[in-house]
Amino acid sequence: MTKKPSRAYPASVEELTPIEARAEHARLQEEIAAHDRRYYQEDAPTISDADYDALRRRYEELERVFPELATAESLTKKVGAKPSEKFAKVNHAVPMLSLGNVFSDEEVLEFVARVRRFLGLGESPLRFTFEPKIDGLSCSLRYEKGHLVQAATRGDGYEGEDVTANVRTIDEIPQRLRGNHSDVFEVRGEVYMTHKDFAALNARQKELGKTLFANPRNAAAGSLRQLDPKITASRPLHFFAYGWGETSALPANTQLGVLEALRRYGLPVNPLTTLCENAEDMLAHYRAIETQRATLGYDIDGVVYKVDDIALEERLGFVSRAPRWAVARKFPAERATTILRDIEIQVGRTGALTPVARLEPVTVGGVVVQNATLHNEDEIARKDIRIGDTVVVQRAGDVIPQIVEVVAEKRPNGAKPYQFPHVCPRCGSAALREIDEKTGEADVVRRCTGSLVCPAQAIERLKHFASRNAMDIEGLGDKQIEFFYDEGLIKTASDIFALAEREAQMSPRLAEREGYGETSVRNLFAAIEARRSVPINRFIFALGVRHVGETNARRLARHFGDFESLRETARDAATGSEARARIDSIDGVGPAVAEALHDFFAEPHNERELDALLKQITLEPMPAVASTSPVSGKTVVFTGALERLTRDEAKAQAERFGAHVAASVSKKTDLVVAGPGAGSKLKKAAELGIEVITEDEWFKRTGQG
Ligand code: IVH
Repeated sequence: MTKKPSRAYPASVEELTPIEARAEHARLQEEIAAHDRRYYQEDAPTISDADYDALRRRYEELERVFPELATAESLTKKVGAKPSEKFAKVNHAVPMLSLGNVFSDEEVLEFVARVRRFLGLGESPLRFTFEPKIDGLSCSLRYEKGHLVQAATRGDGYEGEDVTANVRTIDEIPQRLRGNHSDVFEVRGEVYMTHKDFAALNARQKELGKTLFANPRNAAAGSLRQLDPKITASRPLHFFAYGWGETSALPANTQLGVLEALRRYGLPVNPLTTLCENAEDMLAHYRAIETQRATLGYDIDGVVYKVDDIALEERLGFVSRAPRWAVARKFPAERATTILRDIEIQVGRTGALTPVARLEPVTVGGVVVQNATLHNEDEIARKDIRIGDTVVVQRAGDVIPQIVEVVAEKRPNGAKPYQFPHVCPRCGSAALREIDEKTGEADVVRRCTGSLVCPAQAIERLKHFASRNAMDIEGLGDKQIEFFYDEGLIKTASDIFALAEREAQMSPRLAEREGYGETSVRNLFAAIEARRSVPINRFIFALGVRHVGETNARRLARHFGDFESLRETARDAATGSEARARIDSIDGVGPAVAEALHDFFAEPHNERELDALLKQITLEPMPAVASTSPVSGKTVVFTGALERLTRDEAKAQAERFGAHVAASVSKKTDLVVAGPGAGSKLKKAAELGIEVITEDEWFKRTGQG
């Protein structure tokens, strides 16, 4: 069963006498300073980030309750200490998304081919811009009538932190734009530190006995995210503009044209930015920059290719969180060798047993790595990875570190092949690999079968339920969920909404427990109350049904409209049933989803939990993607030969306007867009009395002329 790790600090800070508090503060100060030294200077931490954070929280809590301990010598006053207060939040009018990554020439060529196919370009020319990918942190600068009014970090892409005061201290960023510009112009770019400035900063830090930064990117991030802008001002930060967010008008119709305009406005644009006429050019520029990399004077972690023509970019749009019109080509992964200390098995919310390598900490490309993914049982067997082995670890960009191979010569005597557990390490239930009915092959993932009794799965399900993209209950993070679960206050999702009532019976009350205060408890209850009403798609996603991610949750919400129809259909969706066929026919929702939905909704325990939850929650309709679009919420079928759009593009476009694209015509279809040569689908539409329009009419209806 889940057992909370024994607490290092039994007494709550409030219970300590001033003498005890002073002694503990001094001891922690020494301990944390030693960990800082190992982390920043020796690149060899000896405890996990979570354990370090716990020490730091306790230390800060001591100072909060006993303010006399917060002297000038306190670690909380030193640079590198984590800010305890928070920056104000900024909503990005246009999300700051990320880029897809590729690692080889072949993948770059595939990207180009994909773009061409999507646009149906045939042999016509297609230009791409080429830019270095700066290894710093992205920042959005909002100019209104030419004045810098706000600067924000990327955050989660939708909501960042307000760092305006700090950004005003960066010389290279103009407070006022020069020349002609539109009323609103959000400039996007990367804040970074040069190698020279980084070395000087670390030398200064060392002289002052302060903690050193691991790499220029960390130094830039640490410098920009200072609560005191005076500290930022003392750090030499630089900026390269590479894009834009909200604008009232664009100064050009190509990427390069806009970048040139940004340069005219007074913003720094990377001088290596250039245009590629074709794919060969793209590969040649990459090779050239690979050799220049060491002498640039600042870190880059690859290059970025973007379609130059902005009209084409708009047609390409986005897929999930990255543009279809750009890609990052990363430099090859960096490697190091270290020792595999242990293999830990984590249990996910769907019962998947995932092996994680615990490593002797090692620096790979400037970052300390102590965990790596081992993927699955077959991967461990294929590479014959054994505990105690010396292994080669690789990390590329933000990708989770991986174990590439074992250094066979260094294997210790007596190391035994790793035996992957056949029972769940948390609840002892059998852990099995499902057999695919069609192929007869075993699934690569071994799963715990104790879904309803396994505490690990229950906790992971709760974490998922409350998480940001699901119910988004602020203040109910992983740690809080583990705490409430262990205390027996929250065992299932519906318990969350009974928390305030249960807490009232608790002794001691929550506000008296370590890590909680009156305000945090009040905020938590308010956050829970606020989520008694949520959009249906979030709720479907929050249930954590296998294969139902955010996109499928949205598809299901759009198709069924109300939760009860989904629930009934899924319950009736046994193999071969009409209900199964209905779910199967939803575009993008495959048979695996239909089966998982049926398994979930047919389970009596889930039924009871859903009833309990729906008594507590009101479901709102899904927010429309583009509520003003006349096709929003409609189900559209494209048929026949389209002349202005490729099929992929038509689908992406319809989804952008909030419509749902189906493959076949049925009673559910609202609109058929037919090109020349349309056959049986057109006939079916006529039979069912469904509106049929031409491709040109589709453009008019969606306001595209
Ligand atoms: S374009 C929607 N261009 O890389 C496209 N990003 O991995 C947004 N970055 O978050 C990004 N140099 O912080 C772009 N020349 C460049 C870049 C660049 C660095 C960073 C940026 C972004 C991340 C994506």
